[in-house]
Amino acid sequence: MLLALLILAPLLSTSYEVKTPPLDTPWTYTAGTDPWPEYPRPQQVRDRWQSLNGIWSWRNGAADELNGPVPTGNLGTDVLVPSCLESGLSGVMANNTGNGTILHSWYQTTFNVTEDWQGENILINFGAVDYQATVFVNGQQVVQHTGGYLRFWADITSAVKVGQSNELVVFVFDPTDSEPYVVPIGKQTLNPSHIFYTPCTGIWQQVFIEPVPADHIEWIDLDGDMNGQVNITVHSANNSSSSVTVKVWADDGQVAATGTGSSDSPIVFEVANPKLWSPESPTLYNITVTLGNDTVATYTGFRTVGKGMVNGMMRPLLNGEFLFTFGPLDQGFWPDGIYTPPNYEAMVFDLKTLKSLGMNMIRKHIKVEMDLFYHACDTMGFWVIQDQPALNIQNGAEPNSTQQDVFNSQLFELVEKHRSFPSICTWVIYNEGWGQVGAPELYLAPMVRSLDPTRLIDATTGWNWHGAGDYVDNHHYSEPQCGTPFYSIASSPYDPNYIGFQGEFGGIGNNVSIDHLWNVQQAINGINQTYELDATVEIWNYRAHLILDELRQQTEMFACSGAVWTQTTDVEGEVNGFLTYDRRILRPNITQWQSDIYALYQAAADRGGRIIISTCL
Ligand SMILES: *[C@@H]1O[C@H](CO)[C@@H](O)[C@H](O)[C@H]1NC(C)=O
Ligand SMILES: *[C@@H]1O[C@H](CO)[C@@H](O)[C@H](O)[C@H]1NC(C)=O
Ligand SMILES: *[C@@H]1O[C@H](CO)[C@@H](O)[C@H](O)[C@H]1NC(C)=O
Ligand SMILES: *[C@@H]1O[C@H](CO)[C@@H](O)[C@H](O)[C@H]1NC(C)=O
Ligand SMILES: *[C@@H]1O[C@H](CO)[C@@H](O)[C@H](O)[C@H]1NC(C)=O
Ligand SMILES: *[C@@H]1O[C@H](CO)[C@@H](O)[C@H](O)[C@H]1NC(C)=O
Ligand SMILES: *[C@@H]1O[C@H](CO)[C@@H](O)[C@H](O)[C@H]1NC(C)=O
Ligand SMILES: *[C@@H]1O[C@H](CO)[C@@H](O)[C@H](O)[C@H]1NC(C)=O
Ligand SMILES: *[C@@H]1O[C@H](CO)[C@@H](O)[C@H](O)[C@H]1NC(C)=O
Ligand SMILES: *[C@@H]1O[C@H](CO)[C@@H](O)[C@H](O)[C@H]1NC(C)=O
Ligand SMILES: *[C@@H]1O[C@H](CO)[C@@H](O)[C@H](O)[C@H]1NC(C)=O
Ligand SMILES: *[C@@H]1O[C@H](CO)[C@@H](O)[C@H](O)[C@H]1NC(C)=O
Repeated sequence: MLLALLILAPLLSTSYEVKTPPLDTPWTYTAGTDPWPEYPRPQQVRDRWQSLNGIWSWRNGAADELNGPVPTGNLGTDVLVPSCLESGLSGVMANNTGNGTILHSWYQTTFNVTEDWQGENILINFGAVDYQATVFVNGQQVVQHTGGYLRFWADITSAVKVGQSNELVVFVFDPTDSEPYVVPIGKQTLNPSHIFYTPCTGIWQQVFIEPVPADHIEWIDLDGDMNGQVNITVHSANNSSSSVTVKVWADDGQVAATGTGSSDSPIVFEVANPKLWSPESPTLYNITVTLGNDTVATYTGFRTVGKGMVNGMMRPLLNGEFLFTFGPLDQGFWPDGIYTPPNYEAMVFDLKTLKSLGMNMIRKHIKVEMDLFYHACDTMGFWVIQDQPALNIQNGAEPNSTQQDVFNSQLFELVEKHRSFPSICTWVIYNEGWGQVGAPELYLAPMVRSLDPTRLIDATTGWNWHGAGDYVDNHHYSEPQCGTPFYSIASSPYDPNYIGFQGEFGGIGNNVSIDHLWNVQQAINGINQTYELDATVEIWNYRAHLILDELRQQTEMFACSGAVWTQTTDVEGEVNGFLTYDRRILRPNITQWQSDIYALYQAAADRGGRIIISTCL
């Protein structure tokens, strides 16, 4: 009987189909089985690559299996890669609530390496795997990576068979907030409730392989500033002795400047009179980087982020001028994909919506997106405030020293792996005191600063401020307290040595019919926890107008330098988005919002800020 079952097992494997999620989007059933065909790494583009996205097999695992034999062959259940196992798009839609049912997973697929890659090194790249991935190629462990939001790669040359089929197996461990684990998870929880949502488990960003010379570029740190200075460090895989050539291309197809030097140390040179990058004019320059026989395409935007006194107030500066930033709290959750947008078009739909309302900033909230998202922000023009994903704080969990070290190292890895996106202008370390025991930001902010001196640091957005970083950042619902001499109890008083900022406000809600709601009873029961519910969209817009007008007055009277409205979309039981969770209803009266946002920019301009001319206004 047992033998018969074992023999039948592969035949019993389920074939992939989208599982009907509690709510879908316009893209749920068009995402297909060849997902995310776009080149995944826009800052380091090579001509040759092969996507490994698509249908893989999956089964539940157990902790001790990592020490046993690596499974081979079809694991029984089809799964779409990339996706979260909890998502309808995964084809699995695992119910991972309670104590967690998919703490451990095995993934399996096969891939071929064509003969024309013979003699080259082969790299495998993962965009992100939540939370810990152990990767095997033909049974040989090639890499283990911890941290659910960060790309990693491995040289798999010695494990790969060229011209033949190769088996790729990944063991995933994802504790989310199960006890006793305390790891960076952002808004994920095994017990969703109102502002905490369904978790994401597994391989949720793109996977691909590529051939490279043995002597190759591993990654690039790149910064362009308002004076045209290019500062680039080309990290080589193998302490290369080859020389590096960097060419910056002007938009007329001519070389604007060339830098040369060696790998693994900064090469600094200048482009004369560059067109600067800003949210309203997001000019990017293409760059090619050559190390020996390896050439990659990359790009930068010339801009300088800083702070300084403008008319007696500490202000965030872009290219030497005060820029008032306004934009949403952006969670990046999807009803059909959870952490993974259904496709590129869907991901950019959110950004286009924000742009059409006149926003120039996004606070990416305790989540890290795929590189394609930041590339879209670079291209479309957003000042991105990037949060480090918060530690699990459910059940009153607090990090011990080991867990604090893990948080710290993932924070540094976040900075190191995203420091070349021109749109990212501010790093956030802690959100509302979550996982912040004592004041670790007093040593973390200087460490982030020394890793990356080219950006601002918002050490604590909301609550528990001890003077670290560049901002004093208030959270208050629904009305703002932005750089004001009044503040509510959990916040800090405005301090004129810091940038006055409203890291969260708004959050007003408007319930919708069940066909636009995340149809899970626990979530629907939580809708009444919304800070404020407005009976109709007209009332919601009326309230928004009053609240935005308060922000305008605070910008005129006090030291308000920017604000974050909660939020881009509804998420599960939160009904306070510009868009509903399914992206089918847009609540803002576009004309009204454009004019209210423009009034903010005007108020800031009247106090020495720059006026934002956006084509949509
Ligand atoms: C998931 O499992 C939990 C715990 O067993 C259960 O209470 C809940 O109803 C399930 N959710 C769904 C959507 O099936
Ligand atoms: C989770 O585990 C704890 C401790 O083992 C148990 O008391 C609790 O009932 C479990 N909860 C669920 C939803 O299974
Ligand atoms: C690999 O190549 C073999 C032989 O050409 C073919 O049968 C197999 O389907 C290929 N596998 C994949 C994953 O493309
Ligand atoms: C590193 O470089 C040395 C000298 O060029 C070469 O012999 C060796 O194969 C390289 N190692 C790898 C892993 O590429
Ligand atoms: C170039 O960047 C490196 C960090 O990658 C930094 O240490 C160095 O000071 C920078 N050089 C200049 C001239 O800005
Ligand atoms: C490169 O050099 C560093 C420092 O000398 C050394 O620690 C490291 O092992 C070298 N890496 C390789 C791949 O040879
Ligand atoms: C930069 O390169 C991209 C990709 O090759 C191309 O689409 C774009 O037109 C180039 N931009 C400029 C300004 O040359
Ligand atoms: C570059 O490629 C040429 C031709 O294949 C080869 O002779 C040379 O050794 C390579 N150079 C490096 C640095 O790998
Ligand atoms: C922190 O807690 C984890 C999980 O319980 C444990 O494995 C680790 O040893 C603890 N570290 C310290 C320093 O207590
Ligand atoms: C929100 O609307 C849903 C269905 O449209 C309804 O079931 C729920 O009771 C409403 N909640 C509140 C707080 O209005
Ligand atoms: C919200 O609704 C739930 C379920 O309908 C109810 O149990 C809870 O008491 C309500 N909470 C408030 C604050 O009204
Ligand atoms: C939107 O706002 C504008 C400007 O306040 C107003 O004239 C218009 O009537 C509003 N549109 C709707 C549909 O409420």
